[in-house]
Amino acid sequence: KITPILMAGGSGTRLWPVSRKAFPKQFAQLIGEQTLFQASALRLSGADYADPVVMTNADFRFIVAEQLEQVGLAPGAIVIEPAGRNTAPAILAAALMVAKTDPEALLLVAPSDHVIPDVAAFSRAVQQGSGPAADGRIVTFGITPDRPETGYGYLELAGQGDGPQPLARFVEKPDAERAAQMLAQGNFLWNAGIFLFKASSMIDAFRQHAPEYLDPVGQALSQAKTDLGFLRLAPAPWEGLADNSIDYAVMEKADNLTVVRFSDRWSDLGGWDAVWRETLDAAPSDRGVATAHATAIDCDNVLLRSDDPDLEVVGIGLKDTMVVATGDAVLVAGMDRAQDVRLAVSALKDQK
Ligand code: GDD
Ligand code: MG
Repeated sequence: KITPILMAGGSGTRLWPVSRKAFPKQFAQLIGEQTLFQASALRLSGADYADPVVMTNADFRFIVAEQLEQVGLAPGAIVIEPAGRNTAPAILAAALMVAKTDPEALLLVAPSDHVIPDVAAFSRAVQQGSGPAADGRIVTFGITPDRPETGYGYLELAGQGDGPQPLARFVEKPDAERAAQMLAQGNFLWNAGIFLFKASSMIDAFRQHAPEYLDPVGQALSQAKTDLGFLRLAPAPWEGLADNSIDYAVMEKADNLTVVRFSDRWSDLGGWDAVWRETLDAAPSDRGVATAHATAIDCDNVLLRSDDPDLEVVGIGLKDTMVVATGDAVLVAGMDRAQDVRLAVSALKDQK
């Protein structure tokens, strides 16, 4: 069985005002019946999977427990990082924890804020990656790129064909020029941010490429305390860790990467425009997308959304605009400014 490792410690400022510091996007119901976190956990449940390990922080621990329970899932462990140090130490901690009982166990690290509507297609991709992962490879999942996105990692294919293949190179978050080059070259895929590997392979990769993490993360784990069913990593060894993502710390340097192509729909919901696109895919005729408590009249390329049942939003004759309302805030922005919503969050922070 594969052990899912769900990363649920991040914050998503571009989906303000629904995504908040105390309640980030992965826990919000942005699309469909479940929250993104619940959909991610359900995607990795069933006969092929062990109970999920959730890596998160103290602020989110009760949200995690409650949201799992709501969809009938039991956590394998909810691990609390004493401070946000990005994905590298969190993934190493998960690998070391699972390795204590089974170093050969397969782990599937997944963000908890992605949209992957076709669960069966995703399971087939994971299936394809299982063989190489059991052989000691670190398996990445590649998405066909359609724009020179600078917020993603890029995977350079070494060969042709559809099956799993070795990776020539991993390039994390290139600048705009480099991204455009890679898109034009055609033999690059986006990194989906999902990784499949044996616990021991990841520990070996850290030993080779980021050995400074091994001792402190190992200590944080061996001195961890169980508290109301949560596993609290020890703060002292953890707090001194450098902040780094798995992509920079390990993936860019590793020479045992394999890529499995995932050609189905995938989105990391990086902004309200992405939410709009995903909603549109579900109801393609509705160019002016209005969710519950919102009405669009003669609108085009518009997202209208109210998450407050006492607050009706009506748009008339709007074009290329997003309006997102919650009980205490309203965002009004041009659709092409979706990435700048994080500016709203920092502007409000500066005011206080
Ligand atoms: N537990 C925990 N602790 N989770 C974290 C932490 C942390 O300190 N920091 C981030 N996360 C979670 C986020 O909530 C998210 O689910 C996941 O880890 C990835 O972090 P992001 O911060 O969203 O990474 P990114 O989007 O900039 O880049 C990664 O994902 C892209 C695809 O969405 C990279 O892997 C890129 O290469 C990739 O293309
Ligand atoms: Mg992300």
